[in-house]
Amino acid sequence: MNYPKKINIRTESGSYPILIGNNILKNFNKNYLRFCPKSKKILFITNTKIPNKYFYSIKKMLPKKNECFIINIPSGEKNKNLLEVNKILNFLTIHNFDRNDTVAALGGGVVGDAAGFAASIFKRGINFIQVPTTLLSQVDSSVGGKTGINNTYGKNLIGTFYHPKFVLIDIAVLGSLPKREMVSGFAEILKYSLIMNKKFFLWLCKEGANIINRSSTLSILKAIEISCKSKSIIVGKDEKEKGLRAILNFGHTLGHALESHLKYSNKLNHGEAVIIGMMAASTISHKKNFLKNQELQAIKDLYQRLGLNDSFKRYIQNNQLNNFFKIMKKDKKNNSKNINLILLKRIGKAFIYKTTLEKTLMPFVKNELKNA
Ligand SMILES: NC(=O)c1ccc[n+]([C@@H]2O[C@H](COP(=O)([O-])OP(=O)(O)OC[C@H]3O[C@@H](n4cnc5c(N)ncnc54)[C@H](O)[C@@H]3O)[C@@H](O)[C@H]2O)c1
Repeated sequence: MNYPKKINIRTESGSYPILIGNNILKNFNKNYLRFCPKSKKILFITNTKIPNKYFYSIKKMLPKKNECFIINIPSGEKNKNLLEVNKILNFLTIHNFDRNDTVAALGGGVVGDAAGFAASIFKRGINFIQVPTTLLSQVDSSVGGKTGINNTYGKNLIGTFYHPKFVLIDIAVLGSLPKREMVSGFAEILKYSLIMNKKFFLWLCKEGANIINRSSTLSILKAIEISCKSKSIIVGKDEKEKGLRAILNFGHTLGHALESHLKYSNKLNHGEAVIIGMMAASTISHKKNFLKNQELQAIKDLYQRLGLNDSFKRYIQNNQLNNFFKIMKKDKKNNSKNINLILLKRIGKAFIYKTTLEKTLMPFVKNELKNA
């Protein structure tokens, strides 16, 4: 397979390219000039844990007449909030950005979601570019146009649909990423395989360790490419999550509730929460007689081999259950009484299962804690 590669995202509200390759930050300028031709100012949103050499390597290529600024959002899910977005909006206002100017996210999903949200509401929308620097943001959050922030009531409760002008995915930036974050990104890669592509799942069974350990550049590129293509197919069919797109939430109902329950602390990051949530959803799929035991075992084997095994019983105590269930009720994926749980019919085929917390998730979680 030859890289760099381009994947085009096509949605009702617009199309844009995703560029995937190794050492391709140098292509930023060319694309910036092409997709944001009238931009005179560019603000990069990043954070201090991301080596600043990435920013400087882009900055030195920008046209001299362009003004270039940078803001850091403190690292961590807790900072994906209105306070940080307001700082961005104030900066844009004070520096007289107009709608032809640009906001670029240079960071993981936290930076991308917050920067995208700010870009979407400033003067009703200014140019936005994504340069995702975590594996998770390269395969998921930078693709598909969801922006958002958390508030005290839950995750991503405030947000917009807003697409970038282009997404530049350079796997060279993964070199500085902690291994824990590689595992977290792998969670979303695995998700695509489980919900829509069994062949991909079987490939991941062989290549998973090479991806997590960064021992094969080609495997990482291929995993990112297939993931982005998978997401683009779904988003192309259902941009605003009226139906099909919900299957991307596989593992996220429990995952989000766990993150929120732990107040977005460092104990558990997004991908780790999804890993727990996907195993729970797979187990429920089997208990409800959808997923065959043999396939559940194949998922369990993969978890075992890649060291993904974890359980939410490590993060919730019995006396915290009521609070945990309250959080689940507030999740925007659930309407007043019913929840849309994403389950598997088989590996590679997910579907929306309409149920209630009382019928499905509460007994499951209680039972898991009993076995602690
Ligand atoms: N918009 C969407 O469609 C969508 C989809 C999935 C997830 N998300 C969101 O994405 C967020 C999770 O994203 P994430 O996993 O990227 O987390 P993150 O943005 O918190 O990044 C993880 C950590 O890695 C550090 N980091 C980032 N790039 C680095 C690099 N190249 N080298 C060294 N350190 C680096 C960050 O500073 C942070 O400490 C969550 O808020 C989640 O809700 C959004």
